[in-house]
Amino acid sequence: MRINVFNLKKKSNLPYSTIARYYDELMYDVDYAGWVDYILRIFRRYNLRGTKVLDIACGTGIVAGYFAKYRYDITGIDLSEAMLEVAQERVQSKYPQTQFIQADMTQFDLREHFDAVICLYDSLNYLLKESQLQKAYQCAYNHLRPGGLYIFDMNTEFALSQIWGEGTTVRETKNLTSIWESEYNATTRISTLKLTFFARQDNGYYLRGQETHKETFYPYSTIRRLLDHAGFAQVDIYEHLEFTPPSDKTYRIMVVAKKGRST
Ligand SMILES: C[S@@+](CC[C@H](N)C(=O)[O-])C[C@H]1O[C@@H](n2cnc3c(N)ncnc32)[C@H](O)[C@@H]1O
Repeated sequence: MRINVFNLKKKSNLPYSTIARYYDELMYDVDYAGWVDYILRIFRRYNLRGTKVLDIACGTGIVAGYFAKYRYDITGIDLSEAMLEVAQERVQSKYPQTQFIQADMTQFDLREHFDAVICLYDSLNYLLKESQLQKAYQCAYNHLRPGGLYIFDMNTEFALSQIWGEGTTVRETKNLTSIWESEYNATTRISTLKLTFFARQDNGYYLRGQETHKETFYPYSTIRRLLDHAGFAQVDIYEHLEFTPPSDKTYRIMVVAKKGRST
């Protein structure tokens, strides 16, 4: 059999430009419904009132779609225009009041306050410098009303160094074959993922795309210090999807930071 492959023209060199159309299929095994359910449990545990939610680094809007369905007033921001296009197609056609805005999470001002600000699926691990993480925390803080919650996950050192580590994985789904090549540098603490994919098109051709993604991790003490510096009054760090403290085998943490009532 002859396989015809053509290369995808890149709109931009940024991660999440080329893969945007294929992101949902790449993430087919992520339990987003379970993740949203966990966030709603956090809202109840912290007695959060209100329905205004900001989803930072919203990607293709999967999580925003769930919040809109549950009657939350949701706004999504993301750096990638291509990801936002998919989010708009998915969510706005059904829930036209939802807003999607292109913005950098380290420097934005929507001139609005929210009851909760969320940032999911390692998006903050893409900020490779502590100064960028500090700015992202500050922006989230500035967009919360007093008493509001900032809820985000982050990959841990264990995830980047041991689970991702060094190696190559090939994944196949209905229309997509993807090759994930990971490399971890213990000195820089940066994990580099080269993602190559072949996406089957209606005409039988395969479209080839490639992106490089870099993530780092931050010690819990740094996360706490930066959140404290941003002004948060309370910070709790959990094992993702649980309400127990993380262990040395924790892959992903969930952080809940509360803005004080009197600020
Ligand atoms: C792993 S995806 C997660 C997307 C979405 N939160 C989800 O759960 O599917 C990471 C997202 O972070 C976005 N991103 C990376 N750096 C960003 C930045 N500086 N500002 C805003 N978004 C950013 C990417 O464009 C991408 O959509």
